[in-house]
Amino acid sequence: VAARGADRRLRILSLGCASGEEAYTLAMLARDTLAAAGWEVSILGVDVNSAMIEKTRRGRFSAWALRETPEEIRQRWFRPDGRDFILEPTIRASVTFEERNLIDDDPGLWQSGVYDVVFCRNVIMYFAPEQARLVVGRIEHALSRGGYLFLGHAETLRGLSGAFHLKHTHGTFYYQLKERAQHLPSRPAWSEAPQDVGVARLAAVADADSWVDAIRRASERVAALTNARGSGAPAPRSRSAAGGWDLGLVFELLRKERFEEALAIVDGLPTEAGNDPDVLLLRAVLLTHRGRLALAEAACRRLLEVDELSAGAHYLLALCREGAGDRGAASYHDQVAAYLDPGFAMPRLHLGLLARRAGDVDAARRELGQALVLLQREDASRVMLFGGGFGREALTALCRTELLRSGGKP
Ligand SMILES: C[S@@+](CC[C@H](N)C(=O)[O-])C[C@H]1O[C@@H](n2cnc3c(N)ncnc32)[C@H](O)[C@@H]1O
Repeated sequence: VAARGADRRLRILSLGCASGEEAYTLAMLARDTLAAAGWEVSILGVDVNSAMIEKTRRGRFSAWALRETPEEIRQRWFRPDGRDFILEPTIRASVTFEERNLIDDDPGLWQSGVYDVVFCRNVIMYFAPEQARLVVGRIEHALSRGGYLFLGHAETLRGLSGAFHLKHTHGTFYYQLKERAQHLPSRPAWSEAPQDVGVARLAAVADADSWVDAIRRASERVAALTNARGSGAPAPRSRSAAGGWDLGLVFELLRKERFEEALAIVDGLPTEAGNDPDVLLLRAVLLTHRGRLALAEAACRRLLEVDELSAGAHYLLALCREGAGDRGAASYHDQVAAYLDPGFAMPRLHLGLLARRAGDVDAARRELGQALVLLQREDASRVMLFGGGFGREALTALCRTELLRSGGKP
């Protein structure tokens, strides 16, 4: 509305609109807010299912479909007809529905920069990644500058597009088209690495002030036991075949918890590596492991400039913020990480620990329960990278202990 004040015109697209609830709801909202103030709001609903489009145009809804519609809205905009409810004709007339397939190269639908807001909820989650990427690319093309995209709550653009900023309000994530689309490097393909279990170090975690504190204490103990602390490892100076930096040695040192040596190698990389998301993430991980939180936080923020949808960066930021005593921001970044990557166990585990410390046992049980499930299928290399020196079994045992402490069933 701020951007369109001059021509007082908004264009909204509802993709995969199904039976039209979203599009009609938008029409009702627009009627009361914008149309009353002289705005022209056009709403287009699109679905591949022709029978659904036909039914939607009739505007007939069952009592079940309106079960969560406030009584006041139902009385105002619907007329009972037998066991159903018919939507008021002017609202019906204010929305256009068209049968179209989002996969098709359809110039009529995908015009450049014509929509201010696109809703595409619970549609791309059914597509193969190539199809999802194709459709998101078309939405990007069809959105006006700074336009908004709303996905379903279990959908993210992570791995699909780097052209959007992630936004958050009212408990919801949504996206805004960047001013200038940036093409982002692909996600890191971390190599599989064996796990160091370290169950004995768990006691330190349960009583540590923060997760970062626990990681630091555990690491110090390992460092004290390790005598191989030479620094003669040569820095990788060449790009790997995949186009990124050859970070195998850094991973090896990370796996052995020789963080300072790993950091020395990462810091010795050529300047251009400073824009590589893999290098930035690794540096942030290593700094976090060493408890150098201000530097780790700066590394995370730099990574988010390059890859705004990096779940790893948000998770590490959560640790840094907790270390700085800012539990609200820690919880926020964990939530963003969990949203961006629903299979990521660590932010759930961290949210569980934060909740238990704050005395919110319901949230602790919920998050720890989810972490427990996710940990079993978590990628081994990710456990190594983000597990703070703890292996899958150790983290699972920690989850169980914390669940018990929160009154849950392990
Ligand atoms: C799970 S429903 C989601 C409906 C609604 N957006 C919501 O969130 O409640 C998915 C909808 O996407 C539509 N759809 C699936 N593939 C499509 C495609 N290739 N083009 C257009 N619509 C599609 C389906 O017909 C269905 O109505």
